[in-house]
Amino acid sequence: MSHAVDVIRAKRDGRRLSDAQVDWVVDAYTRGLVADEQMAALAMAIYLNGMDDAETARWTRAMVRSGTTLSLDVGRPTVDKHSTGGVGDKITLPLAPLVAACGAAVPQLSGRGLGHTGGTLDKLESVPGWRARLSEDEVTAQLRDVGAVVCAATEGLAPADRKLYALRDVTGTVESVPLIASSIMSKKIAEGARALVLDVKVGSGAFMKTEERARELARALVSIGVDHGLEVSALLTDMSVPLGRAVGNAVEVAESVDVLRGGGPADVVELTVALAAEMLSRAGITADPAAVLASGEAYETWARMIRAQGGDPEAPLPEGAHRHVVEAAEDGVLTGLDAYAVGVAAWRLGAGRARKEDPVQAGAGVLCLAKPGDEVRRGQPLLELRTDTPDAVAGALEALEGAYGIGGSAPARPPLVIDTIRG
Ligand code: URA
Repeated sequence: MSHAVDVIRAKRDGRRLSDAQVDWVVDAYTRGLVADEQMAALAMAIYLNGMDDAETARWTRAMVRSGTTLSLDVGRPTVDKHSTGGVGDKITLPLAPLVAACGAAVPQLSGRGLGHTGGTLDKLESVPGWRARLSEDEVTAQLRDVGAVVCAATEGLAPADRKLYALRDVTGTVESVPLIASSIMSKKIAEGARALVLDVKVGSGAFMKTEERARELARALVSIGVDHGLEVSALLTDMSVPLGRAVGNAVEVAESVDVLRGGGPADVVELTVALAAEMLSRAGITADPAAVLASGEAYETWARMIRAQGGDPEAPLPEGAHRHVVEAAEDGVLTGLDAYAVGVAAWRLGAGRARKEDPVQAGAGVLCLAKPGDEVRRGQPLLELRTDTPDAVAGALEALEGAYGIGGSAPARPPLVIDTIRG
């Protein structure tokens, strides 16, 4: 048995923690035997002095063991995807049914949005009747029948992470690569999929603003996955401009349905197909996701997935009652559109929440009617803001000040998929 103070001192002084110390402190904290102030001090020491790959893997294992793990014996190879979060990142919605239509089982236990990035559950809850909460038996049954499930993570998965994440949030210790990587991977490993593809976003709308930091996180995530015997890859993808044209809840569902019906913006289609191809390869399935998307089978799987959770895939989606259009002030080419600013604007319009318990508006959001590189004419609509609360428009417009420019030509952009790191 260790003492919390000894563990804190060891990390404070830059020493590595032993497996026994990691196991003890994570377990004791989960059970309330280590106080919040002690874990806060340890989290800060980890933030400042880091953890090596083996310590981080052990920390992750201890968090997985703090709760239950799903055993997904569903008769198909299981493969999951996790995105570190971005603006307009609705990719889970077309991706899960597409990969299921190709023969895999995709358990997507997701979260709600906080801050400028939206949450998959918030988006899906704009579908009339759809319910996020499923029991473990319902998850397994749906994976067998439909092949894809997107639902709320059950309380029992990695409870140590839930407690620690809340503490990190209020102690300035979120932005630590070993703590972020172990937090993400503990939940994914507890979900029980055998293969995992991570979409690590880079740019203004992402958690990691620079490629260097994003690569560091991607490597840490892949290293933990390998240590736990997963087939794991990470794609580094651009998040300097919003993904697609829609940013919000119902508007992102509508755009995802367009993709599933064979249309939709080129960047959303490209990333959906790239992630699907990597997921299928890691799951050992030979299929052509672009062809399956074009065939309409992925849409059929989407409709079954929505119905299985009480939703009506054909019902009209809510639309914000009030609309405000931002027009181009001159002729030219749109030179940029800052993802972070658009994310904040959508959030202020009511699509996101400031505190976990806040409600979100299903119909609120931003439609990006022009994207960088598009030619625009004076007076042409660039952005459409939607909300049920017209008072929110001023704050959204303030967030968008300086977020886009019109000039002679647009600067070259990085490729959407910057790199792939395989474990
Ligand atoms: N997302 C998580 O799940 N955990 C973190 O620590 C950061 C982002």
